[in-house]
Amino acid sequence: MIVGVPREIYPGERRVALVPGVIASLAKAGMEVVIEAGSGASAGYMDADYLAKGAKIAAERTEVFRTADVIVQVLCYGANDRTGNEDVPLMRRDQALIGFLRPLGSEQSVKEIAATGVRAFSMELMPRITRAQSMDVLSSMATVGGYKAVLLAADMLPRLFPMMSTAAGTVTPARIFVIGAGVAGLQAIATSRRLGAVTSAYDMRPVAKEQVMSLGGRFVELPIEAKDAQDASGYAREQGEDFYRKQRELLGQVVSESDVVITTAVIPGKKSPILVTGEMVQKMAPGSVIVDLAAERGGNCELTVPGEISIQHDVTIVGLFNLASTVPYHASQMYAKNVATFLLHLVKDGKLRLDIADEIIRDTWLTDGGEIVNKRLRELYSLPALAAPAAASTGTVEPSGPADAGEVKKP
Ligand SMILES: NC(=O)c1ccc[n+]([C@@H]2O[C@H](COP(=O)([O-])OP(=O)(O)OC[C@H]3O[C@@H](n4cnc5c(N)ncnc54)[C@H](O)[C@@H]3O)[C@@H](O)[C@H]2O)c1
Repeated sequence: MIVGVPREIYPGERRVALVPGVIASLAKAGMEVVIEAGSGASAGYMDADYLAKGAKIAAERTEVFRTADVIVQVLCYGANDRTGNEDVPLMRRDQALIGFLRPLGSEQSVKEIAATGVRAFSMELMPRITRAQSMDVLSSMATVGGYKAVLLAADMLPRLFPMMSTAAGTVTPARIFVIGAGVAGLQAIATSRRLGAVTSAYDMRPVAKEQVMSLGGRFVELPIEAKDAQDASGYAREQGEDFYRKQRELLGQVVSESDVVITTAVIPGKKSPILVTGEMVQKMAPGSVIVDLAAERGGNCELTVPGEISIQHDVTIVGLFNLASTVPYHASQMYAKNVATFLLHLVKDGKLRLDIADEIIRDTWLTDGGEIVNKRLRELYSLPALAAPAAASTGTVEPSGPADAGEVKKP
């Protein structure tokens, strides 16, 4: 089985989907890697490093798509909404595609991908179960993003982070407030603490309190309770506008007393709730910094300009996307390890093991044989249930891809 890695083409993207370090484990399972020349260079992985581990280098992108049984990317079309459509004509029916596809936010591109007949697996849809933790790319990238958010804030803040007692006097530590203590938020708290800042955090999921405190952060308690704060997968549930309004009122004072606010509050597939208003920004001290990690889905701060750094009311507001790509060496290493683990799970004896009874495969399997085969996505897009795949959750889906492309296990 040939696994192909095309160069990432989203403008400014520096990650690569596979690093040389995972090639040996794939080879052991009968997978050969073909990588487009120069794909790893911006992350610090040279063609010679891939060659030394037994990969082949293809001079042309078209050659990668032509020869590979499985294409592995970081940002596939869908997640790459700028240039990803260039790959659509290269996708083919007897091929698998694995990567970020942003299925909850890009219906049109998912439909175009499905129409090529490609068998796509969306890494965003990985279930949050213990067995799948080593394949969880969202957590890996959130870890890198949370770390980088603090470094950006430290760089832009006109103050020092740690307390310092010097001959020139005592410097008081910076006050950092993290809203949303999930994977990114917890990493932001840990990084901020390492830099010596006084760090506090808030999350509407009550279980987050203990996690914040175990990292040395102060948990900000608000006298409101979210309804069914968390779903079965551990994700926050969307709340009503009343709840968000109350949150904003209560968060106002903490925000205005903070030098840095890092917001990470997202609801999968929904617009992010506004938790920091323009009025709250206005009350912050001049030079303060907000890093809005929810910017890609509209942002948690009312004044965030998605994709940009702006200065408003003398406060720097960072709305940049995709911070993980700015730490490409380790972000690629983590992504590659997650994807390689998924490949090893999916491929058995040189074939895709399409066992629909396996939650990991069933949940990530997005398109096949010209259709969107994922039950959750069909519901989200208001598509009628597929005749056979209507029973997706009961394990009887048989994709209409070519019979020799994979083994479909019917329980
Ligand atoms: N395999 C697994 O078991 C697994 C994998 C990854 C994450 N998790 C857990 O899932 C949880 C969430 O993970 P995530 O970081 O990916 O979530 P996320 O990126 O979807 O959300 C970020 C955080 O924002 C919070 N949030 C959302 N709306 C909010 C609001 N209005 N006010 C305050 N906070 C708000 C959420 O509760 C969450 O903690 C974590 O507890 C994490 O440990 C489990």
